[in-house]
Amino acid sequence: MSRDPRFDILFEPLGIGPVTAPNRFYQVPHCSGMGYQHPATLAAMREVKAEGGWGVVNTEYCSIHPSSDDLPAPFASLWDDDDVRNMAATTEAVHRHGALAGVELWHGGLRSSNHHSRETAIGPWSAPAAESPWQCMRMDRCDVDRFRHWHMQAALRACTAGFDIVYAYAAHTYLLAQFLDPASNPRTDDYGGVLANRSRLLREVLEDMREAIGSRCAIAVRIEVRHQDGGGREERDALLESISALVDLFDVTVPDYAQEMGSSRFVKEASLQSHVRHVRELTGKPVVSVGRFTSPETMLSQVRNGVVDFIGAARPSIADPFLPNKIRDGRPEDIRECIGCNICYAQDGLGVPIRCTQNPTMGEEWRRGWHPEHVPAVAAPEPVLIVGAGPAGLEAAVTLGRRGFPVLLAESSRDLGGRVNREAKLPGLAEWARVRDWRVQQLRSLPKVEVFRKSPMSAEDVRETGIRHVVVATGSGWRADGRGRSFPGGVASYRDSRTLTPDRILDGERPAGKTIVFDDDHYYIASAIAELLAREGIETMYVTAAGVVSEWSKYTAEQARVHARLLESGVEVVVSTLVSELGPDSAQLQCVYSGARRLVPCAGFVPVTSREPEDALWQELQNLELDTLVRVGDCKAPGLIAHAVYDGHRFAREFSLASNSIRPRRERPRIDFGLSRI
Ligand SMILES: Cc1cc2nc3c(=O)[nH]c(=O)nc-3n(C[C@H](O)[C@H](O)[C@H](O)COP(=O)(O)O)c2cc1C
Ligand code: SF4
Repeated sequence: MSRDPRFDILFEPLGIGPVTAPNRFYQVPHCSGMGYQHPATLAAMREVKAEGGWGVVNTEYCSIHPSSDDLPAPFASLWDDDDVRNMAATTEAVHRHGALAGVELWHGGLRSSNHHSRETAIGPWSAPAAESPWQCMRMDRCDVDRFRHWHMQAALRACTAGFDIVYAYAAHTYLLAQFLDPASNPRTDDYGGVLANRSRLLREVLEDMREAIGSRCAIAVRIEVRHQDGGGREERDALLESISALVDLFDVTVPDYAQEMGSSRFVKEASLQSHVRHVRELTGKPVVSVGRFTSPETMLSQVRNGVVDFIGAARPSIADPFLPNKIRDGRPEDIRECIGCNICYAQDGLGVPIRCTQNPTMGEEWRRGWHPEHVPAVAAPEPVLIVGAGPAGLEAAVTLGRRGFPVLLAESSRDLGGRVNREAKLPGLAEWARVRDWRVQQLRSLPKVEVFRKSPMSAEDVRETGIRHVVVATGSGWRADGRGRSFPGGVASYRDSRTLTPDRILDGERPAGKTIVFDDDHYYIASAIAELLAREGIETMYVTAAGVVSEWSKYTAEQARVHARLLESGVEVVVSTLVSELGPDSAQLQCVYSGARRLVPCAGFVPVTSREPEDALWQELQNLELDTLVRVGDCKAPGLIAHAVYDGHRFAREFSLASNSIRPRRERPRIDFGLSRI
């Protein structure tokens, strides 16, 4: 199919200084949880993006020197020739598909805790390190010169490694940004005070780069259009204009990272455009910016309206590495749209390779040899019955269908989607329905997959189908008895007519009055239900056993916003507290530290503690002596939607393959100990 010619403009080649990008699709720098420790994993992941049509593919933040060490958060590095060799694997992989490779040279300055390198961190002043109870040292003139030298050496190494675009990273409160921002730069020497002084280091770094690599590589700068406090627009404009002669590409953003990388719960597509649209005219240079762009129409309007030259994307390129090619080929309906859940970001914070809710192959390109668009064909596919059309069942059906298996997908209710249907009704989570929508859309093009709605299956029903391969994907349900982290044995008094599980709330039931939502789960369900009830006018108290609201949301960069949202919605917040008992008309709250107890009025109660796998069918089927009987997703182990999709995909991709062909690879140092026996 050919594309609508309106989109041709997105596929125009465009110059960036001495190099030319083949199109306007620009994968901005984003971490992968791989960094310098997983060079093969990294190269394979970036290669898939280039293969999928991204005209520019960047690295994650790439340290220039051991004094900028972010472990346990994995980062790339260009410290020495070994790094050059490893990074060259990425540039070669990207070049194989005609894309440009970019690298974001990074020094964290006072934000580097240097846990691993144990170097003393440096900064414009001696300030506390990011989240650690120690401080960096104030850079003197020699340190400034040393830093410039490190940066130039890293830029030269980047060139040797084959990068086409090299960044000066002056955003996200890292070293160059620390110098720029009046709040983080109290210096009184040539590098502090007026803008000309605060921007001196950035200008010197850009001059060094231009002299050292400017004829071979494009020089990009990632920079915010305001100071950290949200002010300083005029100063920033003057700065951008003044450095434009030294820069080939401006990658511009806003100081609020929670907006730039906002989850869909709080921030919608293209949220930066009003903040960055002036930069093209101001600088006369190509501009890229971001905004969780998944709609081709929005991308087109960004370029047509002169907001940007390049469509910058991190998460959309993670959710669908083939997004550009799908637009190119006139298949926009096949785009696996990012849902804005930020699970990709969580992985990086946890120090492990990236995963994605929508794209189960992300991070598995090298380790398992998974490709987002290709699945292994099978010679003589036998029919498979999948019971349950939630995220795991749908993903399994799509993947088995693409492999050529005849599939019967039986869903007990009228609607496909399972838990996604319910959760997408929560405030701000409407985009999560894309998990269902993409899969349902794909099923339409798979004639060998038959879908049966309103078809609850008993073991006898399964037997009657005569199918020998059965996948049970029947999901899970929230427990009402309180069993979970805090109360492994449950709480007897929770058995009460006031108790409504999250599932019952999501199915439309409502408490009679003042409601307590008890969060022993620590992710989004409890806070979103509290917000939902409060918005409907129900007096709501959110109680969590953790020390902060929605504690796990710190990994998805949402925690502060969740807390703020609860306060805005009028929810009363109580932390470090258990709901230890329900009494008549009241609930007993208990401090997790002192054990002190108090009673509060309670007309409704929503315990969010843990889930019960709904695996009754799987148990019944044990006696049927099927050739294949597996559980996938929440009915096996309740988890994130990302887990369910991954599990369904993994089963479907590996089903019927020889087990020795599916063993994952690991990147490990190989050391020659000179042992004679090996
Ligand atoms: C998993 C992840 C890791 C990121 N790592 C970096 C990084 O190393 N350097 C950087 O400048 N920005 C990083 N970002 C921010 C992105 O470059 C981008 O600005 C942000 O995600 C918004 O773009 P999007 O809406 O297209 O995702 C990261 C974002 C994500 C999702
Ligand atoms: S994990 Fe979520 S936010 Fe990240 S790319 Fe995938 S769908 Fe988008």
